[in-house]
Amino acid sequence: MKALEFCGVDFSYGQGSFAIENLNFGVEEGEFVAVLGHNGSGKSTLARLSNGLLEADKGTISVFGTPVGQKNLYDVRKNVGVVFQNPDNQAVASIVEDDVAFGAENVGLPREEIGERIAFALRAVGMENLRHATISRLSGGQKQRVAIAGVLALKPKIMILDESTAMLDPRGRREIVDVVLRLNKEEHITVVLITHFMEEALLCDRAVVMNRGQIVMQGAPAEIFGRHEELLTYNLALPRIGLICKGLREGGVPVEDTLDVEKLAEEIARCVLSQSI
Ligand SMILES: Nc1ncnc2c1ncn2[C@@H]1O[C@H](COP(=O)(O)OP(=O)(O)OP(=O)(O)O)[C@@H](O)[C@H]1O
Ligand SMILES: [Mg+2]
Repeated sequence: MKALEFCGVDFSYGQGSFAIENLNFGVEEGEFVAVLGHNGSGKSTLARLSNGLLEADKGTISVFGTPVGQKNLYDVRKNVGVVFQNPDNQAVASIVEDDVAFGAENVGLPREEIGERIAFALRAVGMENLRHATISRLSGGQKQRVAIAGVLALKPKIMILDESTAMLDPRGRREIVDVVLRLNKEEHITVVLITHFMEEALLCDRAVVMNRGQIVMQGAPAEIFGRHEELLTYNLALPRIGLICKGLREGGVPVEDTLDVEKLAEEIARCVLSQSI
């Protein structure tokens, strides 16, 4: 069964043009999907529609087969957790454990269960040692891990991260991506990772590219990033390793296209050796 499915969805913020237009998009249970697209292509709108923050003008959105609607928002939000971009405005409490507990308290879980869920969520994001810490003193990456833990405490089946690494330094970004990869592999949480970082998309099972509210490319990351010219038409860059391959070829070192660092090293060695003989 599909974890998340959009069928023929239109959405407009009411200014004439559609932010999402006739969108068909599905995510299988357990999948890790990257959503790419330049500014204004509709990625955040897709995230907000997925957990009922916005309502489609046309078409249907289903979560595990149940259509998202006003009547079942509670269940939808329990199943679909969204983590946003800014680590500084997602916290609602000043101490880590209180913040993580907030959502779980709001849905009225028994006290004992809340305690267990806080422990589970903090362990899952590697923050159990900072349970009593003051959030304002944490690094950006740690704050985002707290935000993820708050969503995890609700035990969602799907997590959507809307550029949740955008404001972090490379180390913070890696922390978040590692946590999300682990949640996908070990907790079997279906993940939709919206990102501007092509490197992050390389780690996913499948990447989709959005443009003007529609999906214009989709496939395995290696396949998508092999289509350079097409990516350029959607204002998207290649991951750094793709750029390196391209630069080498343009500089007269005919390496084969690869997204694998070790393979690239072998390719360079092969080209240099064959040229020097
Ligand atoms: N609150 C809003 N009110 C009116 N128009 C909006 C609103 N939010 C987004 N839009 C418009 O909807 C379209 C899609 O925006 P959306 O935020 O979904 O894009 P995005 O792909 O997330 O962009 P970014 O990469 O900048 O985050 C854009 O044309 C945008 O200007
Ligand atoms: Mg956005």
